[in-house]
Amino acid sequence: MRLFKTIAGLRTYLSQEKLGKKIGLVPTMGALHQGHCSLIKQARSENDLVVVSIFVNPLQFEPMEDLAKYPRLLEKDSQICQDLGVDVVFAPSSQILEISDDNQDQSTQTMVIPPNSLTNNLCATFRPKHFSGVATIVSKLFNIVQPDVAYFGEKDAQQLVIIRALVKDLNLPIEIKNCPTSREESGLAYSSRNQYLSDSERSDASALFASLQAAQQAFSQGIKSRQLLLDIIQQKLVLIKNIQVQYLELVDPQSLIPLEEITETGLIAIAAYVGSTRLIDNILLRNRQPIIAIDGPAGAGKSTVTRLVAKELNLLYLDTGAMYRALAWLVHQSGLNFTDQAEIAELVSQANLELLPQTYPQATRVKINGEDVTEAIRTPEITSLVSAIAAQKTVRDVLWQTQQSYGKKGGLVAEGRDIGTQVFRDAELKIFLTASVKERARRRLGDFQAQGKTDIRLEDLEQEIAQRDQQDSSRVIAPLIKAIDAIEIQTDGLTIAEVTNKIVQLYLNLR
Ligand code: PAJ
Repeated sequence: MRLFKTIAGLRTYLSQEKLGKKIGLVPTMGALHQGHCSLIKQARSENDLVVVSIFVNPLQFEPMEDLAKYPRLLEKDSQICQDLGVDVVFAPSSQILEISDDNQDQSTQTMVIPPNSLTNNLCATFRPKHFSGVATIVSKLFNIVQPDVAYFGEKDAQQLVIIRALVKDLNLPIEIKNCPTSREESGLAYSSRNQYLSDSERSDASALFASLQAAQQAFSQGIKSRQLLLDIIQQKLVLIKNIQVQYLELVDPQSLIPLEEITETGLIAIAAYVGSTRLIDNILLRNRQPIIAIDGPAGAGKSTVTRLVAKELNLLYLDTGAMYRALAWLVHQSGLNFTDQAEIAELVSQANLELLPQTYPQATRVKINGEDVTEAIRTPEITSLVSAIAAQKTVRDVLWQTQQSYGKKGGLVAEGRDIGTQVFRDAELKIFLTASVKERARRRLGDFQAQGKTDIRLEDLEQEIAQRDQQDSSRVIAPLIKAIDAIEIQTDGLTIAEVTNKIVQLYLNLR
């Protein structure tokens, strides 16, 4: 692992190492704990090169806050990063970043100011300069590191929304990934500030999440109104005299606008003093049917199993394959060469794709720009084009957005190489369906024999499959990765009905 304290060192290293590599950045203020580690592990599993930045940013501390006493533990943090397989720790001083250590002063440098609509409530009410300080330092880090992906925790929900807005509004070519809040066994969210808590405060602090969970429980039993949900939390916290609530709000998770009632999703966010330590936490309440995301290597039976699971559970089958085919059809129809990525990006980013799911076993109907292409996308010509089209970044980006919009209401099952790791990262049930190379080769041979093709050798198929696995896991766009929270089902020796049944049971056990 490398440690850089200067921009010059880091930039030189990255310019030498970066070529064709996917870079993941995890910005932190150090004093690393399990929460940070979960972001780093996620980044490690999804990138070629992982950079962790450690910088206690004066710009985001209010004048009376804990800038001076904020823990600084570079040596220990570097060791943690090394153990987690991080490639680079970037730990600059304020001087290197040309930020004044006088945290009251945001007037001597260019600041990035998030929109008013995202900074007129929650933490921003009590920390008015905080988010411009965060947006500024994160912009600087993005410009210095130029990552492909950056990781942020859901624990800081308002920060996450503001960073997403920053990237969108300033058209930065960086993907923002959110990671779930890591908690101690007591439910207390890990935070660098937890070290300020005494033992008794620490045990009081666990009431924060317990109260949010009580509201979640009520929500799952049908209580949707702001008043009732927040009352439940307040009633719990009022019993603990060491806790002073600073704010308690129900907001829309994307716009942060206060909600009177939850229709689809709501975020309850809380800040409270436990003794003299200010802690924040939140919980997402989602009124949707579960989503099942099935990933896995080619030939493990994903598509057959997915259709059967949809049928058994009466879920929507989101035919992602048909979506890729539809875009391949559009490219073909437009007479573009499939290697002309810029023109393809121009074309597909303006396309209007609609899926009209049918009941099993009929194929999903697909429309593109108003034209029904359900049959047209099944020709051998389109089949031969699909993988070259699907490997293009804009095609993936367009389809991810479309697929996610179908996921809003939930109640669907989808399969694909990146369904659990990218498209539905918050799916309630993630399955990684695998089978050994030998088994997949045997199944494929069986298919060929059923078609009357008898001149194919098992060893050749095995070699081909192993090669394909290798290619699939090393490709830059949508590599084959098992999501950290996926359940692996090894299907060697299982029938399709047995595999389907396993998934159905897992789904039923969710409730
Ligand atoms: P810091 O508080 O060090 O947090 C760094 C990242 O870790 C943030 O994205 C935060 O949301 C995430 N994180 C903290 N506790 C977590 C937990 N219990 N579970 C999951 N993720 C958690 O947030 C900052 O630093 C700064 O504002 C920063 C973005 C680095 C800008 O200075």
